Amino acid sequence: MTTSPRPESLRGVTITGTGMYVPDRVLTNRDLEQLVDTSDEWIVERTGIRERRIAAPDQASSDLALIAAQRALAMAKVDAKDVDQIVLATTTPDRILPSCACTLQRKLGATKAAAYDMFAACTGFIFGMGLARGLIGGGVAETVLVVGVETLSRIVDYGDRNTCVLFGDGAGAAVFQACEHGLGIHAVDMRSDGELGEVLEVPAGISRNPASERTVAGREHFIRMQGKKLFPFAVRSMEHSTRHCCELAGWAADDVDVFVPHQANLRIIDGVRERLGLSPEKVYVNIDRFGNTSSASIPVALDELVRARRVTPGSKVAFAAFGGGATWGASTMTWTAPVPEPAELAAAGATGRAS
Ligand code: ACO
Repeated sequence: MTTSPRPESLRGVTITGTGMYVPDRVLTNRDLEQLVDTSDEWIVERTGIRERRIAAPDQASSDLALIAAQRALAMAKVDAKDVDQIVLATTTPDRILPSCACTLQRKLGATKAAAYDMFAACTGFIFGMGLARGLIGGGVAETVLVVGVETLSRIVDYGDRNTCVLFGDGAGAAVFQACEHGLGIHAVDMRSDGELGEVLEVPAGISRNPASERTVAGREHFIRMQGKKLFPFAVRSMEHSTRHCCELAGWAADDVDVFVPHQANLRIIDGVRERLGLSPEKVYVNIDRFGNTSSASIPVALDELVRARRVTPGSKVAFAAFGGGATWGASTMTWTAPVPEPAELAAAGATGRAS
């Protein structure tokens, strides 16, 4: 477990720009009805998901990440050459070597940046926040780009109705820089429990069970999940972590203006919201449009909030996530970045392919 050091020992660290990208192709619940024994009604009622985005055959994770990162850097008015570190959270890198972060670094032209992947499943962006805070707060870096990106459609078995209805593709990014002490990030809580590893896994592919004809025939390169076991764990862990980060910020849970939960299941989000005593208006939900995009889920939601001006300077924002590993965590911050001008937003775009 890592809970951030006491705030007084660190420089203030904040987010100065956000960006997102989702692929154009929409996969609806009706489309899935053609693939597996499911129904739009079941998916909407049990998960809240109506559609999700799927990467084109020629799009890999670094392609999605590039557009989100360029948009975040544009909002932060930061040149890619001035980025010190790129932390890329993913479960679906382009390939295992080189890292997806190094591929992104090359495409961005972020020649100065140290770049590396982080495997923390859906909690990846929260862990990236913790890392960025430590690096900048401790004076090791000035500008850190944290990206959450997934092409989960590449590891989803579209013959398994337990998983294929849940996941989608997308990318979100945020630029972290120093800020006035006492503002920006107040706390980051990062936790793991490897005992829960087999609840959500891709059984084959690397050193434990290398790719072979047997693993391919057994469909062992796809996600397998015991959803029922994850559900109560997800609700409890996100609630506890969020409460902890609120306490460290000196807030009651109800002081939070905007809560950005990992978008895994609307019923999980509602369960956390009810336990925290938050009104529905404070909780951001986009799972209906994007499904579960794992590490991209929180930065995509955050970018939508910023561009819709629902997060503005002074907003008290809380984030919470859980995921495979198991991993979970939360963060609290007071927003500091100025609201982008409409012209800037139009120039940067939000969805669709970059020009
Ligand atoms: N369509 C229709 N029926 C389905 C479907 C489907 N797509 N999927 C499952 N069912 C059936 C089941 O087979 C079961 O039938 P049975 O009773 O005849 O056996 C029935 O629906 C009920 O199944 P449950 O598992 O009880 O359904 P539940 O209400 O728990 O919902 C779900 C399942 C959506 C997976 C839920 O448990 C969940 O969201 N869990 C958390 C999963 C999650 O968030 N995973 C992501 C982790 S994040 C990361 O790191 C990637």
